[in-house]
Amino acid sequence: MEEEQREIRTDICSSGKEKPKSDQLEFGRIFTDHMFLMDYSNEEGWHDPRIVPYEPLNVDPSAMVFHYGQSVFEGMKAYLTPEREAQLFRPQRNFSRMNHSNNRLCIPPIDETFALKALKQLITLDKDWIPEAEGTSLYIRPFIISTEAFLGVAPSGHYKFIIILSPVGAYYKEGINPIKIAVEHDYVRTVKGGTGEAKTGGNYAASLKAQEMAEEGIAQVLWLDGVERKYIEEVGSMNVFFKIGGKVVTPALNGSILEGVTRNSVIELLKYWNVPVEERKLSMEEVIKAHQDGKLEEAFGAGTAAVISPIGELVRGEKHLEINESKTGPIAKRLYDTLTGIQYGKLEDPFDWVEKV
Ligand code: COI
Repeated sequence: MEEEQREIRTDICSSGKEKPKSDQLEFGRIFTDHMFLMDYSNEEGWHDPRIVPYEPLNVDPSAMVFHYGQSVFEGMKAYLTPEREAQLFRPQRNFSRMNHSNNRLCIPPIDETFALKALKQLITLDKDWIPEAEGTSLYIRPFIISTEAFLGVAPSGHYKFIIILSPVGAYYKEGINPIKIAVEHDYVRTVKGGTGEAKTGGNYAASLKAQEMAEEGIAQVLWLDGVERKYIEEVGSMNVFFKIGGKVVTPALNGSILEGVTRNSVIELLKYWNVPVEERKLSMEEVIKAHQDGKLEEAFGAGTAAVISPIGELVRGEKHLEINESKTGPIAKRLYDTLTGIQYGKLEDPFDWVEKV
C-alpha cells in the first residue's frame, strides 16, 4: 500500500490534565493528551502507525537504546495564527534531517511524507494544547529509539518512532534578552567524522559536563572544533552568528555542526535583505580581535527551541567580552521579529516556509 494512504489507528482520550497557563510556561515539562507511535522490525519494516494516549512506554530493560544509545530526535514547533489555525515551520526539513541522522546511526529511514501526515493528525487532535501567549508554541519532539532486546553491539532489528508534544515558553530563562555564553576549552562536543551533524542523544550527553562546570549565570557553552580547538562550531542547542564589520558570519557546515533549520532560514532572510552573510571558518581569535578593534557588532544564536537568542557576553577563562553593551542588536531583533512573524502567521511568507496543519 502507498505509505501515504496507510491508516493511522487513533485511540482518542481526554486525560483531564489541566492545561498550563500560557504565560507561565517553561520549556519541555508538560505533555499533551496523545502521542504518535510506529514500530519497526526487520521482517515487517515500519508498521502499526497509531495515535494513542500519552503514557509511559513498555520497553525491555535490555533494549539496545539503553546500552548503546542508538537513537535520533528532532525539534520543531506548531504555532497558532491570529485566525486560530495551527501551522508548522518547514517541517519537511526536519523529517529530512531525521533521515540524515538515521543514516549515520544505522536506523532505517522513515517515509517523510507519511511522518508529516501523522504529525498533522496528532496536532489536529491536540490543537487545544497550543498555547496562545506571545512567544509560546507547541514544541514537537519526534524521536526514534532502538528497542531490540539484545546486548550485542550491532544495529538493532527493532525500533519505535514516536512523536510527543509539549506546550512551551522561552527556552532560556532570559527569554529574548541577551544570554551569557562560555567558550569551552577543556572538552569537545564532537569531531568531524563523529556524530556532530546527526541529531542524536549522545552529542547532548557529551555536552553536559562542560555545561555543569561553567560558572553561575552561563546559559550555554560555545564549542570549538575538536581538533585544533580554534574554530567556532555551535552552542549545542543552537547555531551561532557574529556580525563583524558589517558582515554576518556563521561557521560553515563541516560534518561536526548540526545543520539547523533556523540557521538556514536566517541565512535565507539575510540574503533576501541584501545583508552580507558568510558561511566560513571563524576562529575565536578573529572574534576577539574584532572585539578589540570595535568591529564585533552583534552575536546571536539561532535554533528551533531558542528561536533567535542574542549573546550579550562571551566568557573565556578570565576574559569577558561584552557584545553590543549586552543589548539585543538590530539584526537579531529584525530576524526575531520576521521569523516569529512568519511562524505565527502575522507576516507574509515569501519563502513558502509555513505549512498549515
Ligand atoms: C531544538 O532547537 O529543537 C533542539 O533540539 C535543541 C534542544 C536540544 C532543545
